[in-house]
Amino acid sequence: MNVLITGGAGFIGSHTADKLIAAGITTVVIDRAKPKYKNDQAVYYRLDLNDPETEEVFRTHAFDCVIHLAAQASVAVSVADPIKDASDNIMASVRVIEYCKKYNVKKIIVSSSAALYAVPQYLPVDEKHPVSFLSPYAISKHTMEEYVKLSGLDYIIFRYANVYGPRQDPHGEAGVVSIFIEKMIKNLPLEIHGDGEQTRDFVYVADVAEMNCRAVLSPASGVVLNVSTNTQTCVNDLFSAIKQNTDYTLAPNRAPSRAGDIKHSVLNNALAAQALDFSPKTALADGLKETVEFFKRTY
Ligand SMILES: NC(=O)c1ccc[n+]([C@@H]2O[C@H](COP(=O)([O-])OP(=O)(O)OC[C@H]3O[C@@H](n4cnc5c(N)ncnc54)[C@H](O)[C@@H]3O)[C@@H](O)[C@H]2O)c1
Repeated sequence: MNVLITGGAGFIGSHTADKLIAAGITTVVIDRAKPKYKNDQAVYYRLDLNDPETEEVFRTHAFDCVIHLAAQASVAVSVADPIKDASDNIMASVRVIEYCKKYNVKKIIVSSSAALYAVPQYLPVDEKHPVSFLSPYAISKHTMEEYVKLSGLDYIIFRYANVYGPRQDPHGEAGVVSIFIEKMIKNLPLEIHGDGEQTRDFVYVADVAEMNCRAVLSPASGVVLNVSTNTQTCVNDLFSAIKQNTDYTLAPNRAPSRAGDIKHSVLNNALAAQALDFSPKTALADGLKETVEFFKRTY
């Protein structure tokens, strides 16, 4: 097997590269960023997917499968700069799909998002739930999904819940877990947006990487699958759980809710469990402990 990971220098991509290589799969990465957590056995190309040179990589390597993770991954950035969001999340995805078709890639696995379930009519949301949008990010992810479905390629569309774990960048527009942990190990003030009762489904990155690896090896195709734990955790409880692993002494500051944020999110993962014979195993307490240990070593 010869697999391309776009965005393989990023958080989920770097864990996915390690998992594929451990499974004996030849792994190539395209990312415009310099990899911070490089796997010596992967081949890296530092390129923007919108750069025409990207096609050369497809021509050179006969990929069996592409895991397309490259994206601008922030809801807030998409609200502030929808043009950047559309360029990275729509145009770059269309190029990847077109290169897959042109160079006979058999299967594409893409990373969509729980952001598509913006206004849940029931919880936990399953893949049949109608989609709705509170941000350009959700629109761009949904647009990518529709291009994938029309492509004629074998595909798996993953809709990730909130992924957390070691290597998540706590700076800029990162996920809440990494932002909280970095502040709490340094005993710095932090903000909780809204009343903190908003809920998320936090899934550990090693489990997500395992699902990507299984998706490559599985005959499953033509499916949309939630990647989640089916467990709802509010931000106030997340704060308390991280506090238990640190010596944090401050109370959180309260800040206004953010545009584009969803109130409640928890995703049913039964379909993915059936299709890939796996569901995320790492309990939040264990995943947070691992992540705090990583952050203490790194920051
Ligand atoms: N982290 C989460 O909780 C989460 C949740 C839902 C969906 N996702 C999706 O999963 C994927 C991976 O997310 P992540 O958390 O690892 O983000 P990340 O920012 O760590 O990784 C994304 C990588 O893509 C690269 N990239 C972006 N645009 C590019 C382009 N045009 N050309 C080349 N490289 C480009 C970036 O340099 C980065 O290394 C993204 O598609 C994201 O939208 C993530």
